[in-house]
Amino acid sequence: MLMRALSNPVALGVLVFAFIGCDGDSPGGAPVDPDPPAGNATLGATAFVESCAECHSSRDAFDLAFFSFPDSTIVRRAVFHVDSATARDIAAHVRSLDAETVGRGTRVFQPGGRMVVGDVAFALELFGTDKWPADLTTERLRAIDPLNVPVAVPMPLWSDEATNRDWMPGQPLSAQVLEHGGGAVEDVLAAYYANPELDRLVRAVRLLRRSQRENLDTGGVCQHVDGVGFIDPVGCFESRRWTANLVGQHMLREDLDDHVHPELHDAWWNVGNVARRTARRAGLLENREENWAAWMYLGWMFDPGRHASVYTGLGLANFALDRHATFVALRSQVARPMGSSAIYNDVDSAANFAPPHWTFEAVRFGFSHILERISSGEIPREPRLSEAKLLLDRAVNRASRKVSDGELTELLQLRDEIVAALP
Ligand code: HEC
Repeated sequence: MLMRALSNPVALGVLVFAFIGCDGDSPGGAPVDPDPPAGNATLGATAFVESCAECHSSRDAFDLAFFSFPDSTIVRRAVFHVDSATARDIAAHVRSLDAETVGRGTRVFQPGGRMVVGDVAFALELFGTDKWPADLTTERLRAIDPLNVPVAVPMPLWSDEATNRDWMPGQPLSAQVLEHGGGAVEDVLAAYYANPELDRLVRAVRLLRRSQRENLDTGGVCQHVDGVGFIDPVGCFESRRWTANLVGQHMLREDLDDHVHPELHDAWWNVGNVARRTARRAGLLENREENWAAWMYLGWMFDPGRHASVYTGLGLANFALDRHATFVALRSQVARPMGSSAIYNDVDSAANFAPPHWTFEAVRFGFSHILERISSGEIPREPRLSEAKLLLDRAVNRASRKVSDGELTELLQLRDEIVAALP
């Protein structure tokens, strides 16, 4: 797992997003505490459940041990919630956990285990050149695992006291969520904690999502009204971050660093989606664009065939990461399940995001991929079929502004070939 984690990112001097420093405890290293706190670890374990676990979903303080928070920091934070003797008990409990540790500045799940400085550097790492490779095939693109491709987007820190760009939710789950379905969320969480198996986690995540969303009569925290947006964007963001955190700590604990389950990675993508859908209401949600880009990419890279690539792509394009966005569009396209009509949206996205000198090859790739799918019998049905044809036209239109006349002729021919092969 640690291979993909990015430690001490400040050393990389990454430019795309500003980094926030720590509060003076040794960043990135193991805690240096000569005197272990004189506290009662057993009492500390109980106190953590009572006073910390509503936000720290690890419940046993695994997260504090894993991210090497020093005793001084644990006590400093604990006294917001408990007296100082109990704070020392909690620190003693954390110290007693036998967890694998990483530095507190580690950006877990950072793809490739490091960052690149920007969009061009991303392309050079990915393709060895600042171009969409003319000879790239479906197989070769499919063989590129986004989890191994370094990007210029910093994944969230576990705890960042200065911003909301971290895994820690700023609020506990609301009573509305916990009491959903007559306490069903509480039950399913208790079942998971009692026996933290994957299928129990998936059940908990599924029910959390439903309780946040579908509780329209009682006002689900993620209630969304067309034309208005989220009624409570911050509440929804925090509630979804709680779920995201639960999934994150499960994977860290179990040392899982590959695709686990679509709904688990959706829990991360969905944090980005609250940020995206709040984007026009300035000021409501801090760091909207940063959270949009990071959380969507985090979810996307574990399961690239799952969501509309335009949303993840736009999140990247907000930071002028057009090459990243083009990669997302076409890597999504080749990952789509058989028969998916999203492959037409993906080529349209690629035509939209590609920098001018990438556009011809990127769109040609997307069209050729569609032809391959058609020739193996994947034909969209109405109303998707008509939509698909419109998307082909739109892709050519977008491309026409960025390619030469000769290239445009070639793209038009390919488009005609696709349309001729469709009913
Ligand atoms: C109301 C929610 C909430 C509760 C309850 C809570 N925490 Fe936290 N904790 C957070 C959040 C959010 C962060 C992330 C940093 C931030 O936003 O301030 C955090 C971060 C921390 C950190 C890391 C701080 C750093 O330097 O980055 C420690 C240590 C910590 N909490 C310990 C505890 C302990 C111990 C308790 C119980 C006694 C507790 N917390 C209870 C929300 C909570």
